[in-house]
Amino acid sequence: MSPAAGDARQRLSALREQIAEHNRRYYVEDAPTVSDAEYDRLMADLLELEAAHPEWVTADSPSQRVGAAPLDAFGTVRHAVRMLSLGNAFEPQDIEAFDERVAGTLREAGLLPQGVVEYVAEYKFDGVAVSLRYEDGRLVLAATRGDGQVGEDITANARTLRSVPLRLRGPDVPAVLEVRGEVLMTRADFDRMNQAQAAHGDKTFVNPRNAAAGSLRQLDPRITATRPLRFFAYGWGQVLDEAGREVLPHGRHGAMLDWLGALGLPVSPGRRPCRGAAGLLAFYADIGAARATLPYDIDGVVYKVDDLKSQEVLGFVARAPRFAIAHKFPAQEETTRLEGIDVQVGRTGALTPVGRLRPVFVGGVTVTNATLHNEDEIRRKDVRIGDMVVVRRAGDVIPEIVGPVEALRTGAEVVFDMGTMYPACPVCGSAVERPEGEAITRCTAGLFCPAQRKQTLWYAASRKALDIEGLGDKLIEQLVDSGRVHTLADLYSLGELELSTYPRMGLKSAANLVEAIGQSRRPPLSRLLYALGIRHVGETTARDLARHFGSIDAIVAASEDELLVVPEVGPVVAASIRRFFSEAHNREVIADLRAAGVEPVAEAVPVGEKPLAGKTVVLTGTLPSLSRDEATRMILAAGGKVSGSVSRKTAWVVAGDEAGSKLAKAAELGVPILDEDGLKALLSAPRAGGPPA
Ligand code: IVH
Repeated sequence: MSPAAGDARQRLSALREQIAEHNRRYYVEDAPTVSDAEYDRLMADLLELEAAHPEWVTADSPSQRVGAAPLDAFGTVRHAVRMLSLGNAFEPQDIEAFDERVAGTLREAGLLPQGVVEYVAEYKFDGVAVSLRYEDGRLVLAATRGDGQVGEDITANARTLRSVPLRLRGPDVPAVLEVRGEVLMTRADFDRMNQAQAAHGDKTFVNPRNAAAGSLRQLDPRITATRPLRFFAYGWGQVLDEAGREVLPHGRHGAMLDWLGALGLPVSPGRRPCRGAAGLLAFYADIGAARATLPYDIDGVVYKVDDLKSQEVLGFVARAPRFAIAHKFPAQEETTRLEGIDVQVGRTGALTPVGRLRPVFVGGVTVTNATLHNEDEIRRKDVRIGDMVVVRRAGDVIPEIVGPVEALRTGAEVVFDMGTMYPACPVCGSAVERPEGEAITRCTAGLFCPAQRKQTLWYAASRKALDIEGLGDKLIEQLVDSGRVHTLADLYSLGELELSTYPRMGLKSAANLVEAIGQSRRPPLSRLLYALGIRHVGETTARDLARHFGSIDAIVAASEDELLVVPEVGPVVAASIRRFFSEAHNREVIADLRAAGVEPVAEAVPVGEKPLAGKTVVLTGTLPSLSRDEATRMILAAGGKVSGSVSRKTAWVVAGDEAGSKLAKAAELGVPILDEDGLKALLSAPRAGGPPA
């Protein structure tokens, strides 16, 4: 070899070692020491060198992680040592019984000097089991579990996983080492990958487990190489020394895992030594509580007797060891039949599809329905009535339909179509509409629709609104269905005797409710406004409106322009308020409330708040009496800003004679246009009717 070639070879092997070491720091130690860019640079250098010297490329070069050529089919592999499965337990009693059995056997064998069994507890990863075979420290074979005796040869795919070392490191590398562990995907990687798949119009996966399995079983390793798979070791199979003898360098499971870590393998994190059943159950409780915060899914924990001699004595039953057991968490995902899609009508008339499910126990509760959000969401997930679907309930979040199991389709499934299936409101029969560009179909009946009426009452009684304690959704349902309550105002005529005739209403609770309703007759104006449930008027806007106008009458009477003076009220909100009060039955509700003795209390305006605060005004043309400078000064004094150009952010355009393109622009964008008198009214009138500032 020439001196130059010798240098290149040295550089090549240095690069391979550096890259392998950075992989190890990232995946095994979880403590990277270089940036992604630096790593990519090293890899680019390696690829360049190997391109110049193809004869030097070896299977254990990190460059090979991009994936070898596609296969026609996977070969089969007979495992040198069988890959076992685990017995499952769900209840604490099962674990106590397991510990007693183990302790009994070990006591008889004289292997329990301290009287309590020492275990190692680990996560039970929800991924795909694989076996990696290293000969003389080099990865030579990777296989799936298969039936435990014979699996599939996935060597080319396993090589693409950066967390799988292609060579073992350190002085005590055995002649043969089979490592057993799990391939999985983190939830964050899964979400990112699914988004990318969807963006390219490619198939998406229902969960990280399926994604890991699907990615690992690709016949084209170049595809596997693009998938964010990880490996964690939790055990071993065959271990041989140079003479072909079986050897285990350590006598304890925990020490063996530490050894695997020292060889450069990523080992099951979160493992912990535990003593007796009490120690195991404490681990279960801790991990169960932390489950949702782990970066990947686990479906339980696994307990293993630590002492390997004891493991041997305990032996096996059928395909599972007696020295280990899986303690499962309640499943967060289950598959069940989507029997139908119902539609619920909400407070604002939104028709929300709700999946009706064959009851299924998931995440610790029985789930019978799950929201599907809206029609577009159903289409995006391609969920059809009659599908077998994956239902997920993680932690305390509401159950969700993740997606269909397409492989189980019979062809009899029905595509949901809001337009044809719900041409009218399912509650009141009124017309529905789906405005262009919106995902939501709404019932147009407003408070004539009993569903909207119930939801509106419930909203009005809620804590942020009139805060009527004791008025729950069941009672509201009965009050509306019996025809006794149509509007908010009707609540104030309810008497305790009458209320006590409703189911589950004693005289005492009826009296308390009447008292609570009575107290709500003097609400702060902002809460009454909020309680009306005007679209786009939340807590903050209600407070701003109340402060600005000071009375409900002033708000009812306000024009859109006048409403726009209020900080944070833009054209959409102003239009929504106007629309609400221009409806006769909404004004009637206000009149009825007053007749029922409801008198809101005005809220003080903080000193220093200005009528045009946060608003931008554009002046154009010549005003009849005010000069440009005078008008500008007045607007600035009122807290407003003056701008030279019209945009959607402009609150008003004040136009005089010979106004030009700005006026046209304002008309085009729908920006309100005022004359000089309008400007003056804006500057002086807004607080009329309000409390003194
Ligand atoms: S030990 C002799 N440990 O669970 C024991 N298995 O039901 C063999 N699994 O196929 C398995 N995490 O895919 C073991 N920490 C862990 C595990 C684990 C997940 C899976 C594995 C196996 C299945 C057994």
